[in-house]
Amino acid sequence: MSSAFDDFEVNGHKLDNRFVVAPMTRTSAEKKGKPTELMGDYYERFAKGGWSMIISEGVYTDRQASQGYANQPGITDAPQTDAWKNIVERVHKHDCKFILQLMHAGAQFQHNEYTDTPIAPSAVMPKGEPLDMYGKTDGWTEVKAMDESDFDAVMQGFVGAVNRAEEAGFDGVELHAANGYLLNEFLSDYFNQRGDQWGGAIGNRLKFVAMVAKAAKSAAKDNFIVGIRLSQITVTDPDYQWPEGEDAMIKIVKALKDAGVDYIHTTDTDVNRKPFKGGSNKSLAEIVQEFSDIPLIVNGGIDESNYEHVAAHYPNALLAIAKKALANPELPKRLKSGDPVEDLDFAMLQPTATLENEWQWRDQHDQHVEAE
Ligand SMILES: Cc1cc2nc3c(=O)[nH]c(=O)nc-3n(C[C@H](O)[C@H](O)[C@H](O)COP(=O)(O)O)c2cc1C
Repeated sequence: MSSAFDDFEVNGHKLDNRFVVAPMTRTSAEKKGKPTELMGDYYERFAKGGWSMIISEGVYTDRQASQGYANQPGITDAPQTDAWKNIVERVHKHDCKFILQLMHAGAQFQHNEYTDTPIAPSAVMPKGEPLDMYGKTDGWTEVKAMDESDFDAVMQGFVGAVNRAEEAGFDGVELHAANGYLLNEFLSDYFNQRGDQWGGAIGNRLKFVAMVAKAAKSAAKDNFIVGIRLSQITVTDPDYQWPEGEDAMIKIVKALKDAGVDYIHTTDTDVNRKPFKGGSNKSLAEIVQEFSDIPLIVNGGIDESNYEHVAAHYPNALLAIAKKALANPELPKRLKSGDPVEDLDFAMLQPTATLENEWQWRDQHDQHVEAE
């Protein structure tokens, strides 16, 4: 049997196999960010389906500018934290680990209950168009470059969110530094055009990300997992490249190792893509593998045709899967038993990616979700 079914360990937590549900925004919380029972049904379904770990959708961290989408869940107050507690218990019943993805929207800001002004490293708006899948908006909003007090607020938001995630019973958190959201924007010379200590060469651009990682790790209990997700690409700019090529990734990995993160999660359009400027023949994950012994999570286009190869190529990695997980909530069981695997029908996420729309699609296609 494939080594994808081997057990795995992250910061003392034993996982039964190497299959992880990748983070997926579903914009299905209450207006003020409180998770719902339906979200519990959604997450528990994966836990029953044989995944060893689930990474939640991106969850906002503070009541300032971190929320990016309408009906995005938060982890900023007691009602939100208590509602997450119930969902965590449902997931844990099935021996499945649960990681909360902590996301500050930065310039990728489509809706926020607390402010009308996005903040980001510089006053730069994203390329392309907002994502209708997460709620329709007309264009991007003018961004404010972060000042001293914004740095403090963002940092306090992440640290407070770590504490509340622990309180809710999660096994860990994942800092979202991928896909064009705030922490990822610091790494980017497109979004980060600062002339101070936080901008310029990669050694400066990575500083705030490494500081947040270190602060998250110090705020957490020893066995609480603090991972981080990295990408070069963003949701609206799949061609973005760091100007320093693979050297940027090497420096980021070294700084995150010093910060003490428990895993690095790389995401790309394809897990094996060689994405760097300057003709490097390495993938993001290969750099992590070469320059550190930090456990990896790899993501991008993993499916029934390549998972065995990916598991063998990245022996120190968990395999995170998004679209095929939505189409097959019990994918690990199907792969083990050789049952057929479905492709995702994007109609499931139309007109927006809410759970209500998915449930409706399932009713129409006779794929009902069992209630507990
Ligand atoms: C509906 C949907 C929502 C997503 N939301 C998030 C998110 O909240 N955080 C994140 O880091 N990535 C998010 N992603 C990206 C996925 O985690 C993943 O990186 C991407 O789909 C590629 O993996 P795949 O080929 O297995 O689908 C989302 C993807 C989808 C399809």
